[in-house]
This record gives sequence, C-alpha cells and structure tokens, in this order.
Amino acid sequence: MAEEATDYSPSKTLLAEVSSNERFAHRRFAVLGVAFCTVCLAAMATLMILYHNLDDGNGSPSTSLLRSCTHPIYCTGEFLQAVQLAQPALFLDSKTFVDMPCRSPPQDILDAFQAQRNSAGFNISAFVQQHFDAAGSEVMTVTPPDFVPNPQRLSKLQNVELRTFAYNVHAVWKNLTRQFNTSYSCGEPCMSSMPVPNPFVAPGGRFREFYYWDTYWIIKGLLVSNLTVTARHTLENLLWAVKEYGFVPNGARIYYQDRSQPPLLTLMVRDYVTATGDLSILTDAIDLLHQEHQFWMLTPHRVLTSDTTITANPTIITSDDVLNRYYANTADPRPESYREDTVTLQSSNGRSPLDMYSSLATGAETGWDYSTRWFANNSEDITAVNAQNVVPIDLNAILLQVESTMKNWTCAGGLAPNPSLCTEYGNWVSSRTKSVVKVFPANPVMGDFLLDVQSKNAKWFGAVSALLATPEYANAVNLADLQGAVNTLVTNIYPGGVPASLTTSGQQWDFPNAWSPVQYFAIEALELASQLSQGTLATAYHTKAVSIAQTWITTTYCGYISTQALFEKYNVSATGAAGHGGEYIVQTGFGWTNGLVLWILDKYASELTTPNC
Ligand SMILES: *[C@@H]1O[C@H](CO)[C@@H](O)[C@H](O)[C@H]1NC(C)=O
Ligand SMILES: *[C@@H]1O[C@H](CO)[C@@H](O)[C@H](O)[C@H]1NC(C)=O
Ligand SMILES: *[C@@H]1O[C@H](CO)[C@@H](O)[C@H](O)[C@H]1NC(C)=O
Ligand SMILES: *[C@@H]1O[C@H](CO)[C@@H](O)[C@H](O)[C@H]1NC(C)=O
Ligand SMILES: *[C@@H]1O[C@H](CO)[C@@H](O)[C@H](O)[C@H]1NC(C)=O
Ligand SMILES: *[C@@H]1O[C@H](CO)[C@@H](O)[C@H](O)[C@H]1NC(C)=O
Ligand SMILES: *[C@@H]1O[C@H](CO)[C@@H](O)[C@H](O)[C@H]1NC(C)=O
Repeated sequence: MAEEATDYSPSKTLLAEVSSNERFAHRRFAVLGVAFCTVCLAAMATLMILYHNLDDGNGSPSTSLLRSCTHPIYCTGEFLQAVQLAQPALFLDSKTFVDMPCRSPPQDILDAFQAQRNSAGFNISAFVQQHFDAAGSEVMTVTPPDFVPNPQRLSKLQNVELRTFAYNVHAVWKNLTRQFNTSYSCGEPCMSSMPVPNPFVAPGGRFREFYYWDTYWIIKGLLVSNLTVTARHTLENLLWAVKEYGFVPNGARIYYQDRSQPPLLTLMVRDYVTATGDLSILTDAIDLLHQEHQFWMLTPHRVLTSDTTITANPTIITSDDVLNRYYANTADPRPESYREDTVTLQSSNGRSPLDMYSSLATGAETGWDYSTRWFANNSEDITAVNAQNVVPIDLNAILLQVESTMKNWTCAGGLAPNPSLCTEYGNWVSSRTKSVVKVFPANPVMGDFLLDVQSKNAKWFGAVSALLATPEYANAVNLADLQGAVNTLVTNIYPGGVPASLTTSGQQWDFPNAWSPVQYFAIEALELASQLSQGTLATAYHTKAVSIAQTWITTTYCGYISTQALFEKYNVSATGAAGHGGEYIVQTGFGWTNGLVLWILDKYASELTTPNC
C-alpha cells in the first residue's frame, strides 16, 4: 500500500541522499506500532493511514521522522504513567518528575517498582523520593567565563534609570548560565538531560535546559552583553544537537526528541558572525545548518500536494510550491505534560491517541503552545488543536530568511564559495518567495494558510510581522500592500505591548499575553517598512517601532521595579504585570525577555526615555 511521495524540491538529487534521520525511521515505526496497538487496537486503521507513506518502499528518505525517545522512565511506559497520573498528583507541575535524575540504574528502579507496586501500602510518592534526586540536581549555576559587570555597549546609555536596569538585566545571565556537575554520581542514562558539551543559558524557572527558539533572543542579548564566548558555546551546543539527532530538538532533554521548534539556528549564527566578525564558526556550521535545512525539507514538515497526511489538498498549492508546516508524530502524551495531555485526550470527542497526542506535540513544536491559532473550527478548546493542518506564516518567513542567509554564505559571504549549495539555496529562495507571495498575500489580510479549510485565518495577526520583517518578501510585493499589512499591526498595539492574538481564550499564546518574539518581529517589520517608505511615512513607521520598543522596556522595567523579577510573558492590558494562562504558572528568569530587553536598550539607546510606572 506504500505510495511514493513525490519530491518537488529544487534539488531533488540532494534530498535523495540518505539523511541521518532515515535510519531512525523504521525503528520509530516499529516502536509506535507496538505501543499504539496495546493502547487502541481499533485505531489500527488510522495508524496505517498515517504511516503508510513513511516507508516508501524504495529506500528514498522522502519523509522526515524524528527519533523517538523510548527511555522507560522519562519517555514512556507503565512506571511513567503511574507516577504522572498518581492521585493526588505528586507534583504541582508534570515537568518536575521527568527532570529528576535517578539515584540508581533505571532498570533497578523499574524492577523495584514491579516487585513492590502490588504490595499493601505501596506509596508511589515515597518510592519516587527514595529513588530520585530533586529536579535539576545534575546541573550547577555558573558565572559565564567572559562576564564583566559593566559591558561597554550598556555603559553608553545616558539615561541613569535605564542604564541601571540594563546592568541589572545583564547580571541575570549569572543566574541563568548552567553547566553539568561532572562529579554528580549518576551517569547519563540516569537522567533526562541531553549531555551537551558546553555551558548553556536556560530560560529560567521550570525551564532548566536550553530551549531552541528561546536561544535566538538569548544570543541577541549575550552579544550586547559582550558575552561572545558564551554565545559561541551556546551555538556549538545547538550544532552538536544537529550532529547528534539530525535536527535541533525543542529543548535539551531526551523527552523532546519527537519535535523541534521554530528553526532559527542559522539566523543565530548570522547574528553571531555579524556581531563578532568571527567567520571561523562557519567552517563546521555550514554542513550542519545544511543538514538541519534538509530535515525541514522532508515531508511531512514540507507541504507536498502528494502528502497523504494532508486531509484535503488545497487547490492553491501546486507541486512546485515550497512551503512548510510543523509536524510531530507520537502515540504517547508529552512526558513533561503527561497529565494534561491525558486529560485532553479523555475530554476530546473520540480523537485517537495517535491523532490527539501528535497534534499536541505539533502544537508544542510551533513554540506557540498553545493558541487558538492552532485550534480547528474556531474553537477555543485545546481538544481542537490541529496545528499540523496550518501552514504557518512565520515558519515560512523564518525559512525564507534561513535560505537567503545560506545562499549568501555559500555563494560568496566571506567563505570559499560552494557552487552547488549556492545554486540550491538560490532555488529555494526564489521558489519560496513565489509561494509565500501567493499563499500569504499582503492584501486584503495576512494570516496562516489552512490546509483543511482552504481559507485564510484572519482572526489572528501577530505572526504576520515575521513575514513583514523579511526583506525578500518585502521586495517581492507591492509597497502599498505591504504598508496596508503593517498598518493592521500598528492598530493593534496595547499599553503593555503587542498581543499574541486578539482572541481571549485562557491559552497563553492569546490575548492578553505579550511575548518577546511577537514584539521583536513587530519592531523589525516596522523598521523594514520605514526603510522602504519615503518621507513622513518612513518617519512614522520608525516612530511606531520605537514606541513598541519603549512599551516593552516600560513593562519589563516596571515589573522589575515592583517584583525584582523578569517574566516569560506580560499582560498587554496592564503595565508591568505578568501574563497568565496555559499549562503552568508564569515563569521568571527569563532568557528571551532579558535578551530582547538588552537588544532594545542597545539599538534604541538614544531614543528611549525613563519608564513611567
Ligand atoms: C506517602 O509518602 C509521602 C512521602 O513520604 C508521605 O508524605 C505521605 O503521607 C504518604 N502517604 C501515605 C498514605 O502514607
Ligand atoms: C569584549 O570582550 C572581549 C573579551 O572576551 C574583550 O577583548 C573586548 O575588549 C570586549 N569588548 C568590549 C567592547 O567591551
Ligand atoms: C556536584 O555533585 C556532587 C555529587 O553529587 C555534590 O556533592 C556537589 O555538591 C555538587 N556540586 C554542586 C555545585 O552542586
Ligand atoms: C472540526 O469540526 C468537524 C465537524 O464537526 C469535525 O469533524 C472535526 O473533527 C473537528 N476538528 C477538530 C480538530 O476538532
Ligand atoms: C553576506 O554574508 C557576509 C558575511 O557574513 C556579510 O558581511 C554580508 O552582509 C551578507 N550579505 C547579505 C546580503 O546578507
Ligand atoms: C539572581 O540570583 C540571586 C541569587 O540567587 C537572587 O538573589 C536574585 O533574585 C536573582 N535575580 C533574578 C532577577 O532572578
Ligand atoms: C490583564 O490585566 C487586566 C487589567 O489589569 C486585568 O483586568 C486582566 O484580568 C489581566 N489578565 C490576565 C490574564 O492576567
């Protein structure tokens, strides 16, 4: 029943090479099949439909499959289920348990569990306390080796309040930089941490490991802080992950192996090279960045008209289009949100475990977990999450920037040119530009493209700005259309920033929450519109960009003054108030907030004023 997925990429031969992901494909198929059948035999048919194109029969890797984690404590199995679903709950947050290192080899713990579980008075809470150390025991907080208290780029701030704030935010890197404790007795298989080679910067709070897309704004901040050694170490950790897994996982935990996150690594390397002039990183990075791009260009992350996981083939998409979506496959709840996902499945209207859990993991891969942006049927309920049927405007904008950067580096860009990659990336850029202009027109309204409903998702605008901030796109469309799209953004700025969406749903990536990535792309979009416009309009767009920047500084500053903390998200309806909603309580720290604050303070040093709290 295998049906060949046709490959329409500009460079068919390249993708026909065996990628490192392929060797995991068949293993994953087997593991999922077994796990799934024991859960739900009746849904076997669904499984076969979803998976039939994974094995295309001729050995060509037209499909990207992530290596799944089968660790019997941290990823799947009866013990994990017993701990995570215990009543009453052992921990407030489902992530706590999967971050706890074992005190003895995993098999010994599993054997003890099997021996004791049915005995009278078995207490799972006491069992966990006896066999596991506290979450995060294997890492230590360290001062970055290149840390100085008052880096030059912050000292130039004339405004005393802002300069003091900048130094305080800068000092928080010392709280967020982590390193493995090598004298910690338990070896690697006893913990869920991925053994990254270098120190890393964690977002903070429950996020004790590095996260993929958070690192984009963390790197921007580290570069302003002149922590260039730490920035390079951080990038080398992410490149290590590509070497090890074929892609960058959501975060540095083995239980994140079934999904990635917005693919910003190439753009992080670009920021590092621009800030430092250090091209030496590219010697090793180019091949790995190319490998990551290949991962994204396999189905089902690549949207192909022949892809049978797309339930309704929208006629606007043709075989020569270059478009991407998020897609994760898993028949298990996310280990770090085990209880939440189990409840969601139970309250869904008969969705199969594979369908429900894959949709939830796909939602997590978007970085926007969760938002009505990903919910089908205009629902505000997470049981309708359906992210795999969305072609996200920002994912495609990011990949267009990635391809353009790779094109520059391989065609000239300060390195020895690589003619075949130069041609390949040139083709990706021109094909994707054509596709995004067609599928996400600036006029009349920009939004995601839905694969199953064939309509634009007009209820949401936030990520519009990522495409609006992309020069290749801006050059390909009519300036008046572009200005119209920017104006939609401008009319939705609130006292505490730009909201993730205009829908109030209780989800954390919806109104009234404001997040760093959204502010950043909005600022970049307005600055690009300013550069492309003339006269008073150019000035007006720049002024709007500064006003979003000032709002973000005001809200983070006022929050800091009243609580001594920086939050992962803020409330657009108030000044300096943390956001709320979603699966866990608001976290402090916080990597990307600090990174964006430092980037803004540096970029707009002479235009910002003392916040009025
Ligand atoms: C189970 O063990 C925990 C932790 O040792 C303890 O707090 C709790 O009271 C115990 N529960 C019962 C029912 O004994
Ligand atoms: C940045 O740090 C490096 C050492 O890591 C130092 O040589 C350089 O002078 C610093 N630059 C600035 C602008 O502070
Ligand atoms: C490192 O681990 C060892 C062994 O578990 C422990 O004694 C020590 O306190 C840890 N060091 C830090 C800084 O956490
Ligand atoms: C959307 O609604 C249709 C029709 O009621 C239903 O069949 C489908 O399962 C819903 N989609 C999701 C993801 O809930
Ligand atoms: C291409 O890369 C080089 C080296 O990083 C950089 O100096 C140049 O600005 C880049 N050009 C473009 C158009 O991005
Ligand atoms: C940083 O860590 C220090 C020492 O643990 C703590 O007092 C301070 O509140 C932390 N700062 C922030 C902003 O989290
Ligand atoms: C956001 O702030 C407004 C105004 O203070 C408040 O009414 C609302 O409840 C807050 N929302 C959340 C989710 O915190």
